[in-house]
Amino acid sequence: MENPIKLKRVHHVEFWVGNARQAAYFYRKGFGFSQVAYSGLETGQRKRTSYAMSQGKANLLLTTPLTPDDEAAEHIRRHGDGVRDIAFEVDDADQAFAEAVRRGAKPVAEPHDEVDEHGAIRRAAVHTYGDTIHSLISCKGYDGPFMPGFMAAPIAADDCGILRIDHIVGNVEEGKMQYWADYYANVFGFHRYITFDDKDISTEYSALMSIVMSDDSHSVQFPINEPAPGRKRSQIDEYLEAYGGAGAQHVALRCNDALSTVSKLQRNGINFLRVPDSYYEALPMRIGEIEEPVEQLRRLGILVDRDEEGYLLQIFSNPVEDRPTVFFEIIQRKGCRGFGKGNFKALFESIELEQARRGNL
Ligand code: FE2
Repeated sequence: MENPIKLKRVHHVEFWVGNARQAAYFYRKGFGFSQVAYSGLETGQRKRTSYAMSQGKANLLLTTPLTPDDEAAEHIRRHGDGVRDIAFEVDDADQAFAEAVRRGAKPVAEPHDEVDEHGAIRRAAVHTYGDTIHSLISCKGYDGPFMPGFMAAPIAADDCGILRIDHIVGNVEEGKMQYWADYYANVFGFHRYITFDDKDISTEYSALMSIVMSDDSHSVQFPINEPAPGRKRSQIDEYLEAYGGAGAQHVALRCNDALSTVSKLQRNGINFLRVPDSYYEALPMRIGEIEEPVEQLRRLGILVDRDEEGYLLQIFSNPVEDRPTVFFEIIQRKGCRGFGKGNFKALFESIELEQARRGNL
C-alpha cells in the first residue's frame, strides 16, 4: 500500500465562519456534535476563537476571526463560511511535510511545535484546491482536550448516530479536475477509485465530471468535481461563483442507521433535498431487495443506490450557509463502496429546482 506521507486519518475539518459561537450551537443542536474544547480570549488567544466539536470519530473545528486584519476575516469576506482546512493526522509531520513538498505540494506552514501544559503536537500545512489547506499533524503523547491552546469546554449534544467522516468532495474550476486528481495521486499516493463523466451525470441543464481519489485503505476519500459545459449553469458553476473559486462542496458523514439518524436530524430542523415521489415508485425495480421499508425511506427522503458489493443509503442537506455553497451528506454503507451514481440524475434535478428558486439557473 502506497502511503508516502503516512497519513492516518482526517484529524478534523476546520470551518472559518462569521460567528463560531452560533455555528457551534447549530452543529450541536442541529447535527448532534458535542462541544469538546474552546480557544479564545479566555485562553490567551487574541486573534481567533475556535470551538472543537465531535461526534463518533468525526471532528469539526469552528473558527472565527476576532480582528478584521486576520487572514480568516479575508477568507470569510471572499468565500462566506466554508472549509479552510482538512487536517490530516500523520505519523510524523516533519517527514510528511518534506515528502509532500518534494512530491509537488505548495507549502503553507513549515513544521513547528505547538505546546501547552498537556504536551506538544508537531504541525505543518500544504495547499490544496482554492484557498483550502491540509494541515499535517502528529500528536504523539499529547493528552489535552483537543490541541494545544484549547481548554476543555464540554457541552454534550443529543447524539444523532454519526460515526465518522466518509468523504469530502472538492469543487474545482472547469478543466482543473485532472490537475487536482494528479495532485492527490502524486503528493499523497492516492489512486483513482472511480471516475464519472458527463454520460453518468447529466441533466437537461447541467453536467459535471468527478474523479474519486482514495488511499488504498479507503479510509480517506476525496472526490473532485468540475463543471462540464452544459446548456445552462450547473450546480458546480453556481458553487464556484458563490464561493469565489474552488473549495469543499460537501462533507459526507457516515452512520449505521440512516433511518434513525435522518429522523433525528429532521426533528432538529435540518433541511434536506427532496426527490419526487416517482423516485420511490421506481426504486424496488432499480434496487431490488433491501431491508428498509420503502415507505419510510420515502417519508424521510432517503436515497438508495446499489453496486456489485451491496447498497448504500444517502441524503443531502441544503447548503448550511446563506450562500449556496457547502452542504452535508448523510451516508450509510451496506457493503457498497460507491457514491450514489444511480442517484445523481434524480438528485441533480432536485438541486436544479432549488437553484432555479435562487434565480441561479
Ligand atoms: Fe458524497
